[in-house]
Amino acid sequence: MPGLAVVLVGEDPASQVYVRSKGKQTVEVGMHSVEHKLDVQTSEANLLAVIDQLNDASIHGILVQSPPPSQIDEEEIVRTIDPAKDVDGFHPENVAKLALEDSSGFVPCTPAGCMRLLEASGVETSGADAVVVGRSMIVGKPMALLLMARGSDATVTVAHSRTKDLAAVCRRADIIVAAVGIPEFIKKDFVKQGATIIDVGINRVEDPVAKRGYRLCGDVDYNDVFEKTGAITPVPGGVGPMTIAMLMKNTIKAARAL
Ligand code: GUN
Repeated sequence: MPGLAVVLVGEDPASQVYVRSKGKQTVEVGMHSVEHKLDVQTSEANLLAVIDQLNDASIHGILVQSPPPSQIDEEEIVRTIDPAKDVDGFHPENVAKLALEDSSGFVPCTPAGCMRLLEASGVETSGADAVVVGRSMIVGKPMALLLMARGSDATVTVAHSRTKDLAAVCRRADIIVAAVGIPEFIKKDFVKQGATIIDVGINRVEDPVAKRGYRLCGDVDYNDVFEKTGAITPVPGGVGPMTIAMLMKNTIKAARAL
């Protein structure tokens, strides 16, 4: 039976939610799930030792939830995970394979899920102008590589915090992928009529009316842009479930290969 180990360091509430749903989904699809919860003060050496054990154990996939506490260097984590078990696709070997369009590697789950959404919704990517807002290792960079890859064939612009006149850059886009981590940052003046918007953001904003005292929103002001869009993903319930679906897929791929 394919198995996935999820490691969480610390008690970040959002990370706890993600880790719980990853574990739950793993079991629901009939796979074996292992969770390792480490104290917020865990040293880097300790975490790396846990990863080493998992590298040697009979588990197919390993995922360490990001971001880790500040005493831990994320780069060290991704370099330590066995690339054959790196279902997040963050190890340099898998990043290189993505850039080389070598399909034997693991593709990061969130961008893979975004591509799947585009395909399933019949959005034409070939020749399309795509703007990726954000250049993170987890979303922005791999997303740009996937959109420009052979078979997808989009013309890709990667925008970030230093981009000049971001609204004008986004207005050229047939497809916008928003992954900046700023609540409701993308407004209607960023959007060309009929554009497709994929909102990767998931932000907690205070809301005195909400039961928990906060609500979840994306990086896109959904209500503001809605009328102008050809298609748009909601938050929550858009990209999030796709990320987990792709994690399941990567875990099965790891199990088949090992
Ligand atoms: N934090 C936010 N997204 C992700 C992800 O896809 N994988 C991991 N490990 N951490 C994350």
